[in-house]
Amino acid sequence: MPLPGSPVRKAGLEWTGREEWLRQGGKRARRGWQASVHNLTGGRVSPSPGRLEVELERLEAEVRTASMARPFSTASTSPKGGVGKTTTAVAVGTVLGRLRSPEPVLLVETNPHLGTSQFRLRISNPLSIYDLVGWMDEIVRAGGREDAISSNQLEGFLSSIPERNLKVLSAPSEAHLREAMTREDLRRVLRLLCRHFPTLLLDTGTDILQPSASYVLEAVADQILIVVNGADGAHHARVLLNRLLQVHGVAWVQQRTIIVLNEVDDRGLLDMNAVRRTFEPHVAAVCGIAWDRHLQPGGQFDPALLSERTRMDFLRLAAAVGRGYALGGSPRVDPWLRPRVS
Ligand SMILES: Nc1ncnc2c1ncn2[C@@H]1O[C@H](COP(=O)(O)OP(=O)(O)O)[C@@H](O)[C@H]1O
Ligand SMILES: [Mg+2]
Repeated sequence: MPLPGSPVRKAGLEWTGREEWLRQGGKRARRGWQASVHNLTGGRVSPSPGRLEVELERLEAEVRTASMARPFSTASTSPKGGVGKTTTAVAVGTVLGRLRSPEPVLLVETNPHLGTSQFRLRISNPLSIYDLVGWMDEIVRAGGREDAISSNQLEGFLSSIPERNLKVLSAPSEAHLREAMTREDLRRVLRLLCRHFPTLLLDTGTDILQPSASYVLEAVADQILIVVNGADGAHHARVLLNRLLQVHGVAWVQQRTIIVLNEVDDRGLLDMNAVRRTFEPHVAAVCGIAWDRHLQPGGQFDPALLSERTRMDFLRLAAAVGRGYALGGSPRVDPWLRPRVS
């Protein structure tokens, strides 16, 4: 007879021993059939947490990785429109906000085009990033100091989603305001935001390689997500990756760049495995996001309506982002952005 605890084979299944079933003081399962057995037997039979539960716990712990830099900013980028940059920023922001609570997460639309985050998150604030710059100009004209703006004053320009622990500074939603922000304006706003928020998510536009917007790539982001969709998307991603290699070098890209393979189309146009193999050796992680019925039409982003698979994909992506927090700040960040440590 096998000793308790030694592996035995039963009907093709590998049992690792009775401790698996009758745990004494071990971690109890909170999900799946393991939790049901625990509840039904009043805890007399308490199987170990299942593989999914163990993975969820690991991923959630990674999302909560302590930040070695304050602030730490992650940019969602691609030189192509409609590939899922905003979706990625909103979804990752939602996971980070929930799991890193009470540390607030700020999502910033740095793109000059019509902002979509307000629509996606069902929030409305008529004030945008441009209004904030305009107000900072007024303060300076009146002889004041823009770096003395308090968080209460800043709040008026933000939208808040308390249940997700997420705040948003939006791009304007009026078409006539869609000219690009200057590099200097972006720099001033980001410096102000860096003083008040530990975690920034920067949604970018398709102009990311232009001189003004590329400031985000070159001198703001501690970590960069490159969102890829379709074969030409993979080509664009390679262009962006080459730019990052030129600016930051191989080690930076390997540690701080994440490729997001987003299936915005359900026709399977992208050979995910081939793209994954191409990028994997060069970057910190390659994360797939499955095509999702809820995301397809655009509109309001409600994590509760995502398929289980997509929700898990976003959690894996947020975990990859979280692992980056352990790296500390990028040495390439514009020193003027870092708040003074008092
Ligand atoms: N994984 C996905 N599955 C289905 N539709 C998606 C997915 N990701 C994004 N979409 C949809 O694709 C469109 C473009 O996404 P968006 O995030 O606005 O792109 P970008 O910010 O790059 O322009 C939106 O309608 C969005 O809802
Ligand atoms: Mg967008």
